[in-house]
Amino acid sequence: MNNRQFRLAARPAGLAKRSDWNLTTEEVTATAEGQVLVKVLQLSLDPAMRGWMNEGRSYIPPVNIGEVMRAGGVGKVIASKDPKFAVGDHVSGMMGVQEYRLAEAKDLAKIDLGVGTLSQWLNALGMPGMTAYFGLLEVGQAKAGDTVVVSGAAGAVGQTVGQIAKIKGCRAVGIAGGKSKCDFVVNELHYDACIDYKGGDVKDGLKQHCPKGVDVYFDNVGGEILDAVLTRIGRGARIVICGAISQYNNTAPVKGPANYLSLLVNRARMQGMVVFDYADRYNLAVKDIAQWMREGKFVSREDVVAGIENFPETLNKLFSGENFGKLVLKVADE
Ligand SMILES: NC(=O)c1ccc[n+]([C@@H]2O[C@H](COP(=O)([O-])OP(=O)(O)OC[C@H]3O[C@@H](n4cnc5c(N)ncnc54)[C@H](OP(=O)(O)O)[C@@H]3O)[C@@H](O)[C@H]2O)c1
Repeated sequence: MNNRQFRLAARPAGLAKRSDWNLTTEEVTATAEGQVLVKVLQLSLDPAMRGWMNEGRSYIPPVNIGEVMRAGGVGKVIASKDPKFAVGDHVSGMMGVQEYRLAEAKDLAKIDLGVGTLSQWLNALGMPGMTAYFGLLEVGQAKAGDTVVVSGAAGAVGQTVGQIAKIKGCRAVGIAGGKSKCDFVVNELHYDACIDYKGGDVKDGLKQHCPKGVDVYFDNVGGEILDAVLTRIGRGARIVICGAISQYNNTAPVKGPANYLSLLVNRARMQGMVVFDYADRYNLAVKDIAQWMREGKFVSREDVVAGIENFPETLNKLFSGENFGKLVLKVADE
């Protein structure tokens, strides 16, 4: 069997270009004892992938030049030499941008398609959902009555943060780019309001929609929006530094928050988080989110693009805001 793979060819400067990738083909090798061969069905395209292409220290080692690009995904077991997995099982794990993944059994987890679809297992029931759940409830310490502001509100993480905030009795205010995303955030995710940062001034929107100040800011974008929210935080506010997508393709140094002294004035805090730290409790979050989905209280919206050959251009949609919901690359049918 031939396995098409996207390998990192060069470290990008700014937005990744097609020439930063090599599309190669190699034969799938035989499955050894303790290994499982997975046919990759869908891949999760994540903003963090841009960071993994850079050299330097981070929470995870960079992808080396010549290596298959790292990516989470879901697939179907087509050969197994481990008793925990049988042919036909659906699994999730780090698949890489390729058509087949020969994995150690310990690196895979079974997923139940009776609970959610393949793409939902990459979204609300997967890594973005886990990020939203633990980021909002543990790092952000959101509680009933709080005003929670979420940037990237229509995206993978943002859609789940806002919905959990509402379920927990918070006021949820989203920030997203464009009218159609803001309409989705309010009408389908049931946020109380959404500020269109491309169509108006974020500070004005915050003044209007957060009259009592911001108790929790779940930051997915960093940059100027973080600075604007800092001017509106309330006493004891918690800012969750989940991501800073506005800065990931910078060729100049990252823009730090000029208004950080607002933390001092308001006895507030900012805390970074990495979702992998909560891996031993993902099952608890999945249980809650699956329950809300079953009760019809919860939307999980994905934006699925087909064809592994479209990987480079599809990944870049995250940075232009062209994705509407969790961005998924469909590699194969069942
Ligand atoms: N810490 C962790 O463990 C962890 C885990 C998962 C994700 N994250 C982070 O969470 C954030 C969201 O990830 P996601 O997977 O949910 O992506 P996403 O929100 O589904 O997609 C990215 C969105 O970011 C927005 N965006 C792009 N450039 C922007 C800019 N310059 N200014 C403002 N918004 C911009 C776009 O939405 P608009 O159209 O609204 O602009 C785009 O659709 C990212 O920063 C990611 O790195 C962190």
